[in-house]
Amino acid sequence: MFKTNRGRNLFFSTEIEAGISDADVVFVAVNTPNKTFGQVAEKAADLQYLEKTSRQILAHSTSDKIIIEKSTVPVRTSNAMERILNGGKNNIRFDVLFNPEFLAEGTAIRDLESPDRVLIGSRETENGIKARKEIVEIYANWVPKERIIESNTWSAERSKLTENAFLAQRISSINAISALCEKTEADINEVASAVGMDSRIGPKFLDARVGFGGSCFKKDIFNLVYICQNYDLQEVADYWESVVKINEWQENRFVRNMLSSMFNTIAGKKISLLGFAFKANTGDTRESPAMYIARGLLEEHAQIVVSDPQALGNARNDLKDAEGDLVFEENPYKAAEGAHAIAVLTEWDEYRNLDYERLLSSMVHPSFIFDGRNILDHQRLFEMGFNVYSIGRAPLKHFR
Ligand code: UDX
Repeated sequence: MFKTNRGRNLFFSTEIEAGISDADVVFVAVNTPNKTFGQVAEKAADLQYLEKTSRQILAHSTSDKIIIEKSTVPVRTSNAMERILNGGKNNIRFDVLFNPEFLAEGTAIRDLESPDRVLIGSRETENGIKARKEIVEIYANWVPKERIIESNTWSAERSKLTENAFLAQRISSINAISALCEKTEADINEVASAVGMDSRIGPKFLDARVGFGGSCFKKDIFNLVYICQNYDLQEVADYWESVVKINEWQENRFVRNMLSSMFNTIAGKKISLLGFAFKANTGDTRESPAMYIARGLLEEHAQIVVSDPQALGNARNDLKDAEGDLVFEENPYKAAEGAHAIAVLTEWDEYRNLDYERLLSSMVHPSFIFDGRNILDHQRLFEMGFNVYSIGRAPLKHFR
């Protein structure tokens, strides 16, 4: 995409000031991480980058502009941007629109080229609606008109946080049921596919796993919780916070399960973690369940070998302050040599197709495999000699 468009209608530049003054439309796509310091650290968004950018736009504008906020933001942030921009004394009009980004990592270009929908929020004033229509026309170059939705700014802001909260809630719901399935001889895959066939529910985002990670879900839910608390809606805040709590519980449960299955002690035992990224096809490890699991196992004094085809650089950084016996090894066969257990923590395709006979022959017996992503052929592994633990199914073990 870059190769075909660069130099034609796509240009890269570090001259931000000239870029601002030449533009009719400015998309602001800066980071809005949660605060790591001061008041309401963790829950409130850190809006300093948005504010600095607004001031920079104001300082370098010489004509009217449409400003589009792309970052995921808490309630009424567009209002703050508007106040900064229109508080200037230079008689320039800024129309601030909110156009949230819905793409997911690993499928970014596909999501951009063929989005489920594009959402554009503006003030419902004459100027606001005019600005909105201009942006609709840009998207209409490649997105069918019926997939371009217009709303007021505040609905657009709320829609983005709500969508991520709903997606995360589906995962926490299916993960909660996975624990029940493990105890009651039900199979979570069968339950999820039966439930997902109801067209009102739908089949996506019902994969029970070791827990959700990534840079968005937890941050956005905490934002939602914080907003609700601010508006004195404590019950609503508690409801959404429980989605994050179930996720933490699912990650802890995985560690507890490993410990209890391996005869209640993993001190000094070598455990090979296959996968550290928060999902496959990315090296991103932000909020990855693997990080919490590695730390939990290290606290039990296990000897940990972390393996991942793309995320070892980030993994080293994430675990730099972790104490204990920890090594990094890209080759999964080497990572499993002499191990008591393997835990699959990211659904990389290559882990589906490893030579598990070879892995088993180099491990300590009895050998355990914990499939935190439910991607392996459990029956086959069991027949080979592994004790197999998955999410949402009773374990397959060679002893009582
Ligand atoms: C998410 C949203 O999907 C996207 O719309 C938003 O713009 C940004 O946040 P992303 O974080 O890139 O995207 O990844 P996503 O594919 O949503 O996965 C998030 C986490 O949920 C991953 O750890 C994934 O493994 C986990 N997951 C996903 C499950 O555990 N089960 C599922 O069924 C689906």
